[in-house]
Amino acid sequence: MPKVTITTDDLTIDVADNYPMIDMCEDHETSILFGCRDGACGACMIRVKEGKNNLSKMEDDERDFLETMAAEEDERLACQCRVLGDVVVEVSE
Ligand code: FES
Repeated sequence: MPKVTITTDDLTIDVADNYPMIDMCEDHETSILFGCRDGACGACMIRVKEGKNNLSKMEDDERDFLETMAAEEDERLACQCRVLGDVVVEVSE
C-alpha cells in the first residue's frame, strides 16, 4: 500500500494503489488546496521531494499548464495525480 508523506503537514497517509491524490486530500485534512479540480487553476500545485516516478504519468494538459505557470521540474498538480507508490510531497509556495 503506497504511502504519501506531506512534509508541510508532517503527515503520512496510506492509500490504495492508483488512488487519486485529490480524493486522499478530501479524505484527510491536508494543507493542499484545490480550486477547479480540473488542472486549470494551479491552486493544488505540489512539489515532489521523493518518488516522482511513483505518481501517474503527466498528461499533455497538465504539462502545458505547468509550462504556462513556469513551474519547476519537480512540481505537479495534485488534482491530476494518482498515487502508484511511496511519495514525499510538500505544498508548493
Ligand atoms: S485544483 Fe485547479 S489545477 Fe488542481
